[in-house]
Amino acid sequence: MKLLKVSVPNFRNLKNVELTFEPSLKPAVFPIGSENGGGKSTLLQLIFVLLTCSLDDDKNVYLNNFLSLVKDNSLIAKFEVIDQDKIIDLTFHCITENNNEYRELIKAIKPYLKYKNEIRKITKETSYLGSEEKQEIRKIKEKMTPLEPKILEQKERKKILHINSLNDHKIYMITKTNFEDFEIADEALNFLNKHIYLVTPPAQIFLFLDRSIKKMMNADFAKYYNKISDIIKNISNIYIYNKLSTIGIVNSFKQARDQDFKTAINNNNLDYGTSLKELAEDFHNFLGNDKYIFPSSDMTSIVVHRKISENEFIELEPEELSHGELKRLGLYAWIKYNNINDSIILIDEIENGLHPDWQYNIVNELASWGDNQYLLATHSFYLCEALTPGHVKIIKPKLSNPMSEK
Ligand SMILES: Nc1ncnc2c1ncn2[C@@H]1O[C@H](COP(=O)(O)OP(=O)(O)OP(=O)(O)O)[C@@H](O)[C@H]1O
Ligand SMILES: [Mg+2]
Repeated sequence: MKLLKVSVPNFRNLKNVELTFEPSLKPAVFPIGSENGGGKSTLLQLIFVLLTCSLDDDKNVYLNNFLSLVKDNSLIAKFEVIDQDKIIDLTFHCITENNNEYRELIKAIKPYLKYKNEIRKITKETSYLGSEEKQEIRKIKEKMTPLEPKILEQKERKKILHINSLNDHKIYMITKTNFEDFEIADEALNFLNKHIYLVTPPAQIFLFLDRSIKKMMNADFAKYYNKISDIIKNISNIYIYNKLSTIGIVNSFKQARDQDFKTAINNNNLDYGTSLKELAEDFHNFLGNDKYIFPSSDMTSIVVHRKISENEFIELEPEELSHGELKRLGLYAWIKYNNINDSIILIDEIENGLHPDWQYNIVNELASWGDNQYLLATHSFYLCEALTPGHVKIIKPKLSNPMSEK
């Protein structure tokens, strides 16, 4: 499944944006350009938050934070996705409590979602549900049951796939489709929910936080990094560059170690497998020079050995790999060893820290690391040069051409 079209009529700085990602264009890597502040990062974050955080109650808070400024009835975004020969549309729009068209639905959904939240609180707060809690949950469910037929009838009639409440029930976000087969559209939404990834520098993650927390955290870096870690833990589909790039590499070593252990258990002679060795070789070949990457003995970090003569190595800290090396290796490890395939990967600022040759090469590298669709928010001319002009999407106002202004 691929994204075919994204339309955002009016969200923050995005005005009348409509981008098409033609499936006939190969590789499926689409750079998205704009001026600074033109809305590239906002667009990637919006796609991500709508498609990954709306279905899952635990991630709703990020959707709520991201859309916190929406106050009125408005269409947030429309997507068209293509699955083999089917084109399925998904629209996300926000409505106020008093919207006439949805009055009946809101009357039922408001208490329903509140009850659902009460159950969630009980199950979250207690690790063990005693008979008292179970009884309480049963009572809440009894109040929910009579509301269900009305909600279902309204959802089917209006082709609504999902509803979220935002801003403490002042706003509701409705996810709808016009696709004739409702179940297929529902499957598409659920598929996307698990197959969209965001790759971003840490500073952008800030946008997923509540405004009051953002204010409180000014200049408190420790708190900031804690919050980022929370977000990464809760929204598993996020990958962050820089310091945290080593986490993906360490995880792939752990995976290989476990695989070797499994091989030993399954072998009658308890011989370990060779996955760990092959992985270290793969990373060495990937860096293509005199560096060898190993896991640290406690498997919490990586150790870099650099060959300085035939039989001599020096040991480096992971941070002593260059910024560009660590970024490229981290991304490779994350995609390859998480087996990310048939997915949509949204990558912000991929070119930072990469030499122009690496910016050019990263296009075909990404395509070879996994059969995914990549949307890249970028300013890199070198990266675009690796593709056809048709691949390159621009968010208006179009980049001004200094030559034409003369
Ligand atoms: N609620 C809002 N309404 C209108 N504009 C907003 C709103 N919130 C943020 N902005 C503007 O959006 C811009 C940020 O956009 P974004 O980060 O998506 O740009 P970008 O294309 O990624 O830029 P860069 O290339 O510099 O990373 C800022 O100029 C900011 O002032
Ligand atoms: Mg940006």
